[in-house]
Amino acid sequence: MSEKVKSIRGMQALLPEILEKWQAIEQIVKGVFNAYAFKEIRTPVVERSELFQRTIGENTDVVSKEMYSFKDRKDQSLSLRPEATAGIIRAGIEHSLFYNQTQKLWSMGPMYRYERPQKGRYRQFHQINMEAFGFSGPEIDAEIILMTARIWKLLKVDNLQLEINSLGTPVSRNKYRAELQHYFLEHRAILDEDSLVRLEKNPMRILDSKNPDLQSIIETAPKMLDFLDAESSEHFEKLKETLTSNGIQFVLNDKLVRGLDYYTKTVFEWTTDQLGSQATVCGGGRYDGLVKELGGQDIPAIGCAIGVERLTELVAVSDENPQNKQPKIYIVAVGKDAENRALILSEKIRDLGHGISVAMNMDGGSFKQQFKRADKSGSDLALIIGEEEIESGTVSIKSMKSDAEQKSVDEAKVLEEIKQYL
Ligand code: HAM
Repeated sequence: MSEKVKSIRGMQALLPEILEKWQAIEQIVKGVFNAYAFKEIRTPVVERSELFQRTIGENTDVVSKEMYSFKDRKDQSLSLRPEATAGIIRAGIEHSLFYNQTQKLWSMGPMYRYERPQKGRYRQFHQINMEAFGFSGPEIDAEIILMTARIWKLLKVDNLQLEINSLGTPVSRNKYRAELQHYFLEHRAILDEDSLVRLEKNPMRILDSKNPDLQSIIETAPKMLDFLDAESSEHFEKLKETLTSNGIQFVLNDKLVRGLDYYTKTVFEWTTDQLGSQATVCGGGRYDGLVKELGGQDIPAIGCAIGVERLTELVAVSDENPQNKQPKIYIVAVGKDAENRALILSEKIRDLGHGISVAMNMDGGSFKQQFKRADKSGSDLALIIGEEEIESGTVSIKSMKSDAEQKSVDEAKVLEEIKQYL
């Protein structure tokens, strides 16, 4: 026997059974995007490595440790996208999507990060992304949060908590960063190896540390909100008011700094206590300077991404998938003539549309075997063509979901009859 080829660690195939749930979720999410006038964009899975270095930041874990980077045949460094925002901005600039106009865009697809795989954390995972370009006021921040809240509501996910923070403008954040660096330098002796590295390059990420030994110095560290400039402060106050007046509860988390470098002002995460350590289902925030930094217009922007694998874990129902409500027909045909007629009939049924799904029995088999397959396929109806039916020019119809008597219908009337089941 030949040796099997193994899958790559942290990268999983999504099998039909789980995809039913995914499709149900996607359908609902697409409906929500439409309701908020967001349009879809799809960008390549591979980009120049430089794009991610310049946006996510050289010193982040994502870029410094987790990227799948490689040289192509022309010796260019390319990377599998670890997230979608950078590629969407790159494409938007290239196609002048931000020139004198606003944009509300969504996207869905696989992302790649070389992380240590565990439950809820994979090396290939999927995100549902939403990004709004050209809006500066807090209304769009609120709208994006309301949009995600609507998604949770429609999916009946009711155990998520919203955490928000403001990182201010680059100027106020740099001031804070310097202050924080100074503070942690004074407590250098307590810091662990990981935090010592962060101290140099990204001291705000020390606030993210889960190390219990560090919690007390983190607790007493200077607070970002005390360093906020007036403009960011006003923006944040207005956002909080809008969320409250729309009935959205939130928790202020002044240690929420996010793992990517591009954020300004509002940042937020939706977290759950149901998924163990991989608790963040959705995260995002403003990135007002980023489009300009990548050579585009000086426009504000905000967005977030939902982790689909994590969300799927929290969604209980899959039978809401409209596809599951479409009628399914299996055609049982015994004998060569019957098979020929079955093939013609199956095409005619598909011509009817209505989302009917038709599976024709393939590769023969006895009536008994074929009925078994019909049953296994989850069909609602079996259409039966055997010698008897060929002779009398009929088709027998049997419900697979009820005890109703099998019935014989004139071949010419089969389509009419099927319509009654729709
Ligand atoms: P992020 O926080 O890095 O943000 O990822 C967003 C979500 O993707 C996370 O909350 C999580 O649910 C999911 N996720 C991340 N890494 C993994 C993994 N290894 N396995 C499974 N799920 C994962 C971003 O990527 C930003 N681009 C979001 C954004 C859009 N900000 C502005 N616009």
